[in-house]
Amino acid sequence: MKLYLSRTMAKAHYDVKDLKLASEGKLKIEWAGKQMPVLKKIQERFVKEKTFKGMTIAACLHITSETANLLIALKAGGATVVANASNPLSTQDSVAASLVKDFSIPTYAIKGEDNETYFKHLNAVLDYKPHITMDDGGDLIYALHTDRKAELKNIIGSSEETTTGVIRLKAMEQEGALQLPVIAVNDSDTKHLFDNRYGTGQSTIDGILRATNILIAGKTFVVGGYGWCSRGIAMRAKGMGANVVVTEIDPVRALEAAMDGFQVMTMKDATRVGDIFVSATGDKHVISLDIMKHMKDGAIVANSGHFDVEIDMAGLEDLKKSKRRIRTSLDEYTLPNGKKLYVLGEGRLVNLAAAEGHPAEVMDMSFANQALAAEFFVQNKGKLENKVHVLPRALDVKVAQLKLDAMGITIDKLTREQAKYLSSWDEGTS
Ligand code: ADE
Repeated sequence: MKLYLSRTMAKAHYDVKDLKLASEGKLKIEWAGKQMPVLKKIQERFVKEKTFKGMTIAACLHITSETANLLIALKAGGATVVANASNPLSTQDSVAASLVKDFSIPTYAIKGEDNETYFKHLNAVLDYKPHITMDDGGDLIYALHTDRKAELKNIIGSSEETTTGVIRLKAMEQEGALQLPVIAVNDSDTKHLFDNRYGTGQSTIDGILRATNILIAGKTFVVGGYGWCSRGIAMRAKGMGANVVVTEIDPVRALEAAMDGFQVMTMKDATRVGDIFVSATGDKHVISLDIMKHMKDGAIVANSGHFDVEIDMAGLEDLKKSKRRIRTSLDEYTLPNGKKLYVLGEGRLVNLAAAEGHPAEVMDMSFANQALAAEFFVQNKGKLENKVHVLPRALDVKVAQLKLDAMGITIDKLTREQAKYLSSWDEGTS
C-alpha cells in the first residue's frame, strides 16, 4: 500500500468538505448522542477523573454522528483528539464540519475523497504525534509500521474496531511484526454480538434500500459468509420476507446456517437463483468475476465487509462494456453479453457508503468499549506486551450492565445457594 506523506496538512487543522454544513452536523451529533447513554455515563466519569490529561488520541474511524460522540467523550476527558476517515465513502460531511467548527476537533475527512487524499488525511493525524490510536481496519497501525515508524515511540497503545482489522493485526502478531500493544475492541462480546450482528444486519438492509428502493419480500437474497455480520444480514433479510441463501467455507458455520433455516449452497450454485448478493466475509473476491458472469440479468451486488475487496471490482471494470450511474450509490454495469449487473456503493461497505452505518444504540456499546480501551492504555502504560489483547471480561460485563440500566431492564441475581452450587462439585444425582 502506498502512503502519501503530507506533513504540512496538520497545520491547516482540518480538511473537510464545507464548514457551512456544521449546523446540520451538530444536530445529527446531538440526536445520535441521545441514543448513546452508556458512552455518556463513561464520559461523565472521564470529565471528573480527567482520564486523558496530556494525551493525544488519533482516531481513524468512520466519521459519523456516532463517532463524533466518541471523540467528544475523549476530548471531555482531557485528550487532544484528531480524526480522519477510515473509508473514502463513509464520511458524513456535515458531521466532519461540526467536529471542526463546534467541537474544535481537527478532522480530515471528505466523502468521496480519492486514495491520495485518503492517505494524506491518514498522515495528517499522525503528524500530531498521538499517544493512542484508534483504527477501523488497521490503516493507522499499518502506517506506523511502515512509512511512519518514527511516530511509534510515542504510542502507548492502539485499539481496533473491526473484525477485518483484528485479522490483520493477529497476522502481524504471528509474524512477530507487531510493535505496539493492541486492544481488539471487536472481540468484546458487547461489541461483536451487537454491532456486527444487529448493527450490520439493519444498516446493510438500510443501505440496499436507500440505493435501490426495491422490495425485499419475495427476492432471493444471497449472503456470503455466516460470521456475526453476515448472520445479522441473513436474519434481517429473512425478516423482510426474502428467501435467504447462505454461502460459507466453514463447515460448522454452514451447518449453523442450515439449522437456522437458511438454504446453504456454493456461491456458484447461488448465481442461478440469486436476485441480491451481499458479501460480508472479510475475504477477497467472494464475488469473483466468474461468479458475476454467471449471475442472472439484473442481479444486485453489494459488499458489507470492511474493505472493497469482496467483489472483484477491478475485474468488473475491465470486463464491462459500459457503465451508468442510475441513482446515488447505484451503478449499472453492462457486460459484453448484454447482461446487466447493479453494484451498490462502488463495492465499498454498503451500510456506510449508501446509508449512515449502524444506529447509535449499538455504536453506544462499541464506542463504550473504544473509550474503555483508551482508558486501559492510560492505566497500563508501559505494562502491556506488544500483542493483540482483549478488554478484561469485567469491563464487557460493565458495558452490558450499563446498557441494561439505560434500557430499564432489571435482571435476576444468583442467590447465595445458587452461587455455591455453581462453584461446587459434590451435588450430583440426588
Ligand atoms: N461502523 C458501522 N457503523 C458505524 C457508525 N454508525 N459509526 C461509526 N462506525 C461505524
